[in-house]
Amino acid sequence: MKIFPATEENIRNAVELIRKGKLIAFPTETVYGLGANGLDPIAAASIFAAKARPSFNPLILHVTGAEMMAQICSQIPESVLKLMSRFSPGPLTYVLPKSETVPDIVTSGNPTVGVRIPAHPVALRLIELAGVPVAAPSANKFNKLSPTDAKHVAKQLHGEVDMILDGGMTTIGVESTIVTERMGKIVILRHGGVPKEEIEEFLGYRVSETTDSARPDSPGQLKYHYAPAIRIAFRDETDFDRINFSRAAALRFGKTGESDDKDFRLVRNLSVTGDLREASSNLFRYLHELENEDIEIIVADKIEPAGLGKAIMDRLTKAVNYYRRPADLK
Ligand code: TXA
Ligand code: MG
Repeated sequence: MKIFPATEENIRNAVELIRKGKLIAFPTETVYGLGANGLDPIAAASIFAAKARPSFNPLILHVTGAEMMAQICSQIPESVLKLMSRFSPGPLTYVLPKSETVPDIVTSGNPTVGVRIPAHPVALRLIELAGVPVAAPSANKFNKLSPTDAKHVAKQLHGEVDMILDGGMTTIGVESTIVTERMGKIVILRHGGVPKEEIEEFLGYRVSETTDSARPDSPGQLKYHYAPAIRIAFRDETDFDRINFSRAAALRFGKTGESDDKDFRLVRNLSVTGDLREASSNLFRYLHELENEDIEIIVADKIEPAGLGKAIMDRLTKAVNYYRRPADLK
């Protein structure tokens, strides 16, 4: 097995591997990342190959702080510095003009680079010891569920990684929110661990989102993504007369009627009390559990898209859309 507890010694071993251009998986507070030396174009190429990720989908570089960030960005706008003072380290990624040091493969040829200061002690220690920005997309195969546990990484990438550092379950459970600056204003490119409302309250103005999925600014805006291996559909779009309940699971949210789900083989509730933090930390975990079961459909509740509910609904909608795609695209 390649899973090792994230002790100081094992973090050092992981850093040795990073220096040799290898791939290692490590915990962050959002999801596990598939990490490599972010300044080494060959190591970055290995990430794309391991994930079977299209080369047009750029990687995020993870840094320990503003100093390392300045090495990879040609400019950090005022508004971003302001956001950093409140939300970094944490689940917020900034898309900024890149400097010459960043290989083009990392940014998929874009003049910008995605940068994040993670809040997880293991991630920070790893980057600190490596002494270079660590490129890390979520440690899953392209279009599959993101990992919130070391076991999830092993399930999809066992053959592709050299080491998985185990830091237990991630606390936030959905990926970082991604922002950029346009004409002096912050714009959201992907919903995630920092709710839009918190950013708006802090900045004192309404923040816009780019929604043009035909020409995504962040490929995180692709219409389908994050799909479990089992078909998933929304409850209010499902014809219950056509369900084989003995092979179906319900994914619920909040208080539900006691007899509502008695026919389903399996029932999971993201948060019985309707707590969105609890729900986001359970989302990928439950989907991973359910895709391991012998069932044919997951029937999911819709969640009101406010606060963290936006990030959760975004992931669920993309998973549902994956199974709505014309068959020839699958
Ligand atoms: O929470 C997270 O952000 C996790 C952990 C590991 O840090 N990482 C993560 O990476 O979610 P990934 O690669 O799965 O998603 C990163 C998203 C992608 O949709 C990518 O297209 C977008 O960030 N991105 C990266 N660089 C970008 C850039 N220069 N311009 C626009 N979008 C960018
Ligand atoms: Mg991802």
